[in-house]
Amino acid sequence: MPSDLNIDALRDSALSAIGAAESLDALEAARVAHTGRRSAIVEILSGIGKLAPEERGPTGKAANAARKAIEAALDERHTRLEAAAMGDQLLEDRTDVTLPGDPFPVGALHLLTQVRTEIEDVFLGLGYRIADGPEIEDGYHNFTALNIPEAHPARSSSDTFYVAGHDDIALRPQTSPVQVRVMESGPPPVFIVSPGAVYRRDDVDATHSPMFHQLEGLAVDEGLTLSHLKGTLVHVARALLGDDVEYVVRPHFFPFTEPSIELYVRWMDRHGRGQWLELLGAGMVDPNVFASVGYDPERWTGFAFGMGIDRMAMVRYGLPDLRLLFENDLRFLEQFA
Ligand code: PHE
Repeated sequence: MPSDLNIDALRDSALSAIGAAESLDALEAARVAHTGRRSAIVEILSGIGKLAPEERGPTGKAANAARKAIEAALDERHTRLEAAAMGDQLLEDRTDVTLPGDPFPVGALHLLTQVRTEIEDVFLGLGYRIADGPEIEDGYHNFTALNIPEAHPARSSSDTFYVAGHDDIALRPQTSPVQVRVMESGPPPVFIVSPGAVYRRDDVDATHSPMFHQLEGLAVDEGLTLSHLKGTLVHVARALLGDDVEYVVRPHFFPFTEPSIELYVRWMDRHGRGQWLELLGAGMVDPNVFASVGYDPERWTGFAFGMGIDRMAMVRYGLPDLRLLFENDLRFLEQFA
């Protein structure tokens, strides 16, 4: 026979179970245990009809009050646990803006691009403009207009890469055809530089590669002399390699310049031995070249040069091998990023 005492005890144990529930799941278990269909309180309430008439009122009242108290505690605990769960979730989702970021690789200009741009800047400062020309050229621009005779070895397929099935079309072996294209496009004066890739069937060694880069230069005006050429070249060499750069100028031969020279600068090979490295070929534009583009050789003089951009990088950065520039090994390239 349930007594008030009994009901109070049921209520108290329910309240303490609710108070002890640390999660919404635990609270749900307490709800089922203490207010569910099989719970003691509900059993008491459904057994009221079997009680003696005078007990029905007080027992019903006490049991209802106990159930209300338990339900109120359940609601209150539910609200509290839900808020705590929400807080945990927010805490978990919080972004810690003080954590170090995930680093991602940042690109940089290739060393050759940096050196090319620097050389261009020096020439832009001297009043030159930058010209462009095709890497796939015809025989007229590659050779004929540059006064290169029919039998010259540079024309042979053992020196130059021809396009299959086109015996007049080749990958340009030098940037000099751009001289011709620029002069064909307008009258003097001309002051241009033209950087780009060139291709040769060269034996591959530390200073040669079948593809490399040149910067062609052409100046045409009245009264230009070899001194202007030498002064220009030494100015550029000093700007890129330092005022105390060691250089020598030697006579040479090119079909499209007369007289012709080469400029050598000091470079350390892989054994740490100082070597003279050819940095460029140059000379005074041959009158035959002027004739082929319709410039009057009696009025105009000019000079031209073809500078090795890759070689400039080698000397400037003490690279022991030209091929490092084309292997795309990030361990090498990142040093110049
Ligand atoms: N085209 C020559 C070479 O590749 C270099 C050069 C350019 C020489 C212009 C004279 C004038 O070797």
